Amino acid sequence: MERPAWAPQGIDISVPSVSRIYDYYLGGSHNFEVDREAAREAMRFMPGLPKVMQANRAFMRRAVRFAVDEGITQFLDIGSGIPTFGNVHEVAQSANPEARVLYVDHDPVAVAHSHAVLEGNGRAGIAAADLRKPQDILSAAEDSQLLDPSRPVALLLVAVLHFVEDQDDPYTAVATLRDALAPGSLLVLTHAAYEGIPLSEEEAGGTVGVYRNIKNPLVMRSREEVTGFFDGFEVLEPGVVSMPLWRPEGEADQEDPYAFSGFAGVGRKA
Ligand SMILES: C[S@@+](CC[C@H](N)C(=O)[O-])C[C@H]1O[C@@H](n2cnc3c(N)ncnc32)[C@H](O)[C@@H]1O
Repeated sequence: MERPAWAPQGIDISVPSVSRIYDYYLGGSHNFEVDREAAREAMRFMPGLPKVMQANRAFMRRAVRFAVDEGITQFLDIGSGIPTFGNVHEVAQSANPEARVLYVDHDPVAVAHSHAVLEGNGRAGIAAADLRKPQDILSAAEDSQLLDPSRPVALLLVAVLHFVEDQDDPYTAVATLRDALAPGSLLVLTHAAYEGIPLSEEEAGGTVGVYRNIKNPLVMRSREEVTGFFDGFEVLEPGVVSMPLWRPEGEADQEDPYAFSGFAGVGRKA
């Protein structure tokens, strides 16, 4: 397989990656045939997967605008993915040009492409780090000098916690990050769940199997388990809900039954 110029040296382009599969669902061009095959296989079980991803992105943009309206000027976006239309820095900086964004991902393609997209933007950066090692993320944030830890930050964990298995202790990772945040900081998250998917659990389970096969298991969690990530935060209205129901801005937000898969929420640290 030929390696395109944007693919960093050292990555195995014969193994599908979560970020490149997601890029494919969103209509991006930073993916390989192995990724497209895995994505198509997952869509055999859940044909509406791209709609889920679009609802996820739409929620994220609304939540970023909400954070800016709340006076937040700093964003830490973990599991940020391959940059695509309507990235956090674009939404935040168009609402407030002073907004600063640190992206974090452990996928080399996401990191390389983010570097390319952010070149020349003095208020946004990318760090390669793993959510399972939250101390590494805090060190990277300090090194970046982009975020002032004494002031509130919006911590985005959007469509990433469902890739952290229980054995890797996702609740402790979130708590470690929370403890480093100033009061008034926000936690913005989405999470995959069987709830809301317009299919039986058995049918939707085929998609989970595809991610298991590519050694990036997708962990479905219940509303209660997802709400548990907000420990130490006050969950803001309307609570932990389907993505289109979180402060919708227009009818288009509520168009497709697949968009109601999984959960979204925003919490504030006291
Ligand atoms: C489905 S994408 C979500 C991208 C973006 N947050 C969004 O919602 O549009 C998940 C991203 O999380 C990243 N990811 C998965 N596990 C991670 C981990 N343990 N640490 C850092 N990033 C991770 C993947 O590489 C991928 O880019």
